[in-house]
Amino acid sequence: MKHGIFLIVLISMICRADMNMSLGEQDSRMWETQALRLPWFTRWSCILDMQEPYAHWFVGGHINASYACLDIHIKNGKKNKTAIYWTNEQGGSGTVTYQELYQDVNSFAKYMRSCGVGFGDKVVIYMPMIPEAVVAMLACARLGAIHVVVFSGFSSQAIKDRIVDTQAKCIITCDVSYYRGKILNLKSIVDQALVDSDLERKVILIKRTQEPVGLVPERDLIYAKPEVKNLSLDPVPVESNHPLFILYTSGTTGKPKGIVHSTGGYLTYVFSTIEWVFGITPESIYWCTADFGWITGHSYGVYGPLMHGATIVLREGAPDWPDEKSWWKVIDQYKVSIFYTSPTALRMFMRLGPDLLQGADLSSLRVLGSVGEPINPEVWRWYHEQIGRKACPIIDTWWQTETGGFMIAPTAGSTMVPLKPGSATFAMPGIEASVVDSYGNPVPADTKGFLVIKKPWPGMAIGIYNNPALFKDIYWTRFSGMYYAGDYAVRDTDGYFWLLGRADEVIKVAGHRIGTAEVESIVLEHQSVAENAAIGISDPIKGEVIVIFIVLKHGYQVNQELHDQIINLVRTKIGSFATPKEIYCVEKLPKTRSGKIMRRLLKTLIEGCLIGDISTLEDDASVEEIQQVLQSADLYIKRVRI
Ligand code: WT7
Repeated sequence: MKHGIFLIVLISMICRADMNMSLGEQDSRMWETQALRLPWFTRWSCILDMQEPYAHWFVGGHINASYACLDIHIKNGKKNKTAIYWTNEQGGSGTVTYQELYQDVNSFAKYMRSCGVGFGDKVVIYMPMIPEAVVAMLACARLGAIHVVVFSGFSSQAIKDRIVDTQAKCIITCDVSYYRGKILNLKSIVDQALVDSDLERKVILIKRTQEPVGLVPERDLIYAKPEVKNLSLDPVPVESNHPLFILYTSGTTGKPKGIVHSTGGYLTYVFSTIEWVFGITPESIYWCTADFGWITGHSYGVYGPLMHGATIVLREGAPDWPDEKSWWKVIDQYKVSIFYTSPTALRMFMRLGPDLLQGADLSSLRVLGSVGEPINPEVWRWYHEQIGRKACPIIDTWWQTETGGFMIAPTAGSTMVPLKPGSATFAMPGIEASVVDSYGNPVPADTKGFLVIKKPWPGMAIGIYNNPALFKDIYWTRFSGMYYAGDYAVRDTDGYFWLLGRADEVIKVAGHRIGTAEVESIVLEHQSVAENAAIGISDPIKGEVIVIFIVLKHGYQVNQELHDQIINLVRTKIGSFATPKEIYCVEKLPKTRSGKIMRRLLKTLIEGCLIGDISTLEDDASVEEIQQVLQSADLYIKRVRI
């Protein structure tokens, strides 16, 4: 008895629940019940140890993500079930069973270990949407190594930054990838990223062609899939809070930040939410079109569906290549039941007219998801009527790299609320979301405010790699005791959430997150640029596109060459998806008295919206300052576009 009391006191001392961000008894029990559905090696001693802003879930429990995605299904007699259907632009296709995936992951993990990769090492993965990318991710997880997937549309600079920041021990890549009829030479992009690198690291190359590739002796290793089919490597049990991966995302600072996710809490959250929201089952044929380089590709492209033993579809290539019917043929060919994509892709297809869907039978579809940016009501309706034949719910999912999984979304897998086109509906079970004013007080219905989360959840990021202070600063400082998402939102009188876009200096181009500061610091590298400002303006397809304002240094001229050089600079430093749409050359940038660039005002000027209440345009500017800029609008938009 005495021991019992001692234990309770001890556990409650250890499991400090912060006064601000605490978890009720009911939520604790719910998350514990969910966690118990995963295969743990050892049970946790504490559900949540909250030391704001750090949440440690299932402390002391040991788990392995590759075991939860693979071994468990083999053990349950599902080894011959299809794990992956893959296809590509050239018409190639194939299937991978759970047993084959298990073998491939084991062989590759063994190989990685022989190359010196082990527990806690960081591994950069730069690969296209092919089964080998899944193998690479799960092999890292099997070893307790931490994967850092880099979107294959990123440039060598982006890879380099991530290698340097994480001190990655190894980079896994392919010789080539295929996109829009072109061959992209991934290995040479990695080579470029490693030029002048003084750090010792290995490049593991997975060859897809017979073409010779330049190899750097001692550094580059070609992986040859072994003939032996029964290589196995015991999964390394990791403590629940051991990082499963680091994924970089843009924010308001000049450099993307490495968001760190845990293993146990993250997997529990992703496992639960994919079931609640999409109603996934082992029978689902599930196609998430997001690249593995984004959080969607991690949570709901790999870990979520594989933990449930579902079949995933992978397609390498551009959505409209070789023709605009390609995607719809894939849905028909594999009888996809759950389809998850972005509003940008839908808007692109919607423009193409009624012939688009002819010849493709989409009757296998049950649930349609959307993510990455607000979905316009007309696009929502088109998705519902044309793709879903009015028979599938449209599941608009709001969440972020940092949240690990869905936060606000309809729950097609349990009780479904009536949908409203353009609204992500309600928060997940266990998630307390609210819309607040700049003081953190809840705003009345139908009033725009900042979206915050008031309770911890198992999918929440466990930090920013190498930068604990920034983690606190960005998400936890603006509103005390709340997670600040950086989005504007409104709740209607029925309590539905409507997401209205970023409230900070982040642009969403085709759903891809790009920080204005990131673009600006690149543009500033051009020798002629004295100052510049990047903004996002609305675009009928991509949601937003980048527009740049530059102030030239004395003695430099505006011309086409300068324009092209700046565009190229951004393309080569970030990637072609970040190509600016327009550049304006101005004599000065509008700034507040405290020196902040008035980006929202620039945006309003370019978009040509009439400004009603100008006082709400910039946090830091007086009405007079704004009026002054408006009066000199010519300076910003008319005479100087290049
Ligand atoms: C930002 C997060 C979540 C995975 C993909 C993007 C915007 C995301 C929605 C949605 C309106 C959305 C937000 C958010 N966003 N989903 N359904 N409706 N906006 O992850 O790159 O971390 O971007 O994307 O602005 O903050 P991410």
